Amino acid sequence: MRFLLALALAVPGAPGGGDPYFPDQGNGGYDAGHYDLVLDYNPSSNALTGALTLTARSTQDLSAFDLDLVDTLAVRSVTVDGAAAAFSQKGQELVVTPAAALANGQDFTVAVRYDGKPTHVLDPDGSRDGWIRTSDGVFNANEPQGAMTWYPGNHHMTDKATYRFTVTVPDDRVAVANGDLTSKRSGGGRTTFVWDAREPMASYLTTVSIGKFQLTDAKIGNYRTIVAVDPKLAGKATAFAQRHAPILDYFSSLFGPYPFSSTGGIVDHEPNVGYALETQTRPIYPSVPGEGTLSHELAHQWFGDSVTPTRWKDIWLNEGFATYAEWLWLDRTGAKPLQTSFDTAYAQPADFWEMPPGDPGSGAAIFDDPVYDRGAMTLHVLRRTVGDAAFFTILRTWTSEHRYGNADTQAFVALSQRIAGRDLSALFTTWLYKPGKPAL
Ligand code: ARG
Ligand code: ZN
Repeated sequence: MRFLLALALAVPGAPGGGDPYFPDQGNGGYDAGHYDLVLDYNPSSNALTGALTLTARSTQDLSAFDLDLVDTLAVRSVTVDGAAAAFSQKGQELVVTPAAALANGQDFTVAVRYDGKPTHVLDPDGSRDGWIRTSDGVFNANEPQGAMTWYPGNHHMTDKATYRFTVTVPDDRVAVANGDLTSKRSGGGRTTFVWDAREPMASYLTTVSIGKFQLTDAKIGNYRTIVAVDPKLAGKATAFAQRHAPILDYFSSLFGPYPFSSTGGIVDHEPNVGYALETQTRPIYPSVPGEGTLSHELAHQWFGDSVTPTRWKDIWLNEGFATYAEWLWLDRTGAKPLQTSFDTAYAQPADFWEMPPGDPGSGAAIFDDPVYDRGAMTLHVLRRTVGDAAFFTILRTWTSEHRYGNADTQAFVALSQRIAGRDLSALFTTWLYKPGKPAL
């Protein structure tokens, strides 16, 4: 009786996750648990064939639900719990209607077969993101919206999941993804790489990057360090790999334990991309990074990857924190005193101070300078106000209380006040939300 009632009341899940900057991103009605993604890619023709098996749980009585996937990729079949499901594609929404409605709280498996020639998207800030082709493969970076250009999913930052990527490419190419390389097998001129990302991950942090990479995999210090470098940088892989452990050790001492089972990086040769990205466990770089960029992307593993904002508006929780960590590392190595980094940022001209970093205003501004520099200055001012002991307790509590989860600015302000034992609303309001240059 209850079951029949549930089916009668089942309604479609929301087509968007409700983020004001990217409203279509993500979908309602279910929680993703694990993505098992099998890809076959031909770099010379850009032909991609994909098979996704996603395990999920419904969060309402569900008659239909969406996955995000651009409609330039063609979906060939969809099943839910093994039974053929009806589906349609429009824009970035793949609408799936299972043969039988799902009851609230039901575990289910959706399998999607698709293929096509993926392309990147253009972000509101003019950058490319998603499946970015290179001369020998793909530079795959997905913040904020590229994931929908190559696989279907619930592409909202709050729906974290574990992943397995099984990627087949020609023998002269390497496919690198997040997590641990768990198998590699060749046959018939093609090689299949299996990568397991066992800690929860937001989909904007996934990557499957492909190229004629030189791949090294070694335990360095406390970390399994898997590095892929473009052949133009041959010979630099070992030195690059060795730069990770000292930074991660230092950050672990300040921020708490490194959250993931492996580290490393993907150093491609694609200077026109114009940015690096903190893809989980294994950031991607368009060229060999300097110490600033390397430490920035590694700091994101705590701030952004393990602890992820709940909405794009709070992006300073990623970029301000990673920038401050970068300042700390440059200070530690003697490259630049922390106070010099702060003073240089504080000396920026009037127009820099117009945008408050806690409220970028639109998706076009989420990576603007104030989000990074004024965000970092906010942390420095917080540290000067509450003292070193309270400040680093705040950071370590933040990374432990929200490990593998999501949190917003309000939660950070509340935590800071709790640990400092005082009202800090004026500080945060001035630095995060008021246009204009704060006095010191
Ligand atoms: N999160 C990246 C960083 O570490 C920047 C990503 C920029 N992406 C973009 N589409 N503009 O700074
Ligand atoms: Zn960053």
